[in-house]
Amino acid sequence: MKILVIGSGGREHAIAWRLALEGHQIFSAPGNPGLAQIGAVHPSTDYVSVAQAIQPDLTVVGPEVPLVAGIVDQFRALGLVIVGPSQENAQLEGSKIYAKEFMQRVGIPTARFVRSEAPDLAIEALRQFEYPVVVKADGLAAGKGVIVAHNYAEAEAAIRSLGPRLIIEEFLRGEEVSFIALCDGRSVVALEATQDHKTIHDGDTGPNTGGMGAYCDGRILTAADTGLILDSIIEPTVRMTRFTGFLYAGLMMTATGPKVIEFNVRLGDPETQPLMHRLEGGFGDALLRDATGQLQGTTLRSKPDPSVCVVLASYGYPAQVRTGDPIAGIETAAEMEGVQVFHAGTKMGPRGLETAGGRVLGVTASGPDLASAVRNTYAAVAKIRFAGMQYRHDIAHKGLKRWPQAARR
Ligand code: AMP
Ligand code: GLY
Repeated sequence: MKILVIGSGGREHAIAWRLALEGHQIFSAPGNPGLAQIGAVHPSTDYVSVAQAIQPDLTVVGPEVPLVAGIVDQFRALGLVIVGPSQENAQLEGSKIYAKEFMQRVGIPTARFVRSEAPDLAIEALRQFEYPVVVKADGLAAGKGVIVAHNYAEAEAAIRSLGPRLIIEEFLRGEEVSFIALCDGRSVVALEATQDHKTIHDGDTGPNTGGMGAYCDGRILTAADTGLILDSIIEPTVRMTRFTGFLYAGLMMTATGPKVIEFNVRLGDPETQPLMHRLEGGFGDALLRDATGQLQGTTLRSKPDPSVCVVLASYGYPAQVRTGDPIAGIETAAEMEGVQVFHAGTKMGPRGLETAGGRVLGVTASGPDLASAVRNTYAAVAKIRFAGMQYRHDIAHKGLKRWPQAARR
């Protein structure tokens, strides 16, 4: 198939890499230097014109911004086959107030909350919560619109900085899990669970980012938990909304069961990198079946080997980032057995590849067990250098701690 991949990040590079392995012809817009190694790049965000020029058999959308802007309705109106949610359903990600009120209405487990459209009332509402309390901006914020406030002063400052349209919610405790399912309005195919690492520094400290690394391991969820998540969260959502595309539930596995922290309406970044690394095949076919409402009976097989992605970020991220730092060592890293280096914020400068965004690369590898997957990934990270490079040293360490005697196969 001719497949158009929309986006320019590590997630899109990973999707395109997987689809190219399956023999599909890849186009991307606006693309990045990694995507350019896989297929033709159209450096434009006028996606309708790009699709009309290419006439793809299928389009897959990576990021939330075009989905929330209604790209799926636009494409469908033109008879183009596309994977993703309607603009209405994209509000599950585009507005936290919409998502929370939907969950409340349908009875989907989530943190207790109040909505607010006036800072003074929001501050008043703090009385109904204990600390820490979570303050969230209503709209899209690239993972940076959430503040966990540990006392009244922090909560008040968060309300003033994120307002006026806000959610204030109860702080949930437990393991965080990313659960993503491909949906065609009726049927659901769950991808494997992954775990992201949201904060910039080791040990889950520092400000939130778009995600600093993720891993995929078949043991993240038990079969019972997977069943519970499908029954109590994913299926009711799909039934009520006729959701199409990737429904991503960011979950907290609390003592009283899985609760939704947030919905996204797309694949996660960086969760997609380890997911694509582990997939065995049939991804393109599943996407086509999804976009044409024929998902029922589809399965996606993954290799047993755990996979890990470590994000390399620019100097300054997640605040003001510096760009234009030359990047060295990608080829050496990519030559290592089973290693894929996915591009995110990179660009081809006059003297070679340089940094061009906050999250620069996603170094991804696997291994026969999680400990080897972690070792292989960090061995590849060690080959790559750019000035100010930041990365977390503890990606997948929660898994290593949970399953200490990882049996070697
Ligand atoms: P979100 O953008 O809603 O996923 O929030 C970003 C991150 O903030 C999440 O991945 C969690 O680590 C944290 N977070 C958000 N909401 C809560 C909550 N209610 N309780 C605990 N942590 C939360
Ligand atoms: N990694 C979190 C997200 O894609 O929203």
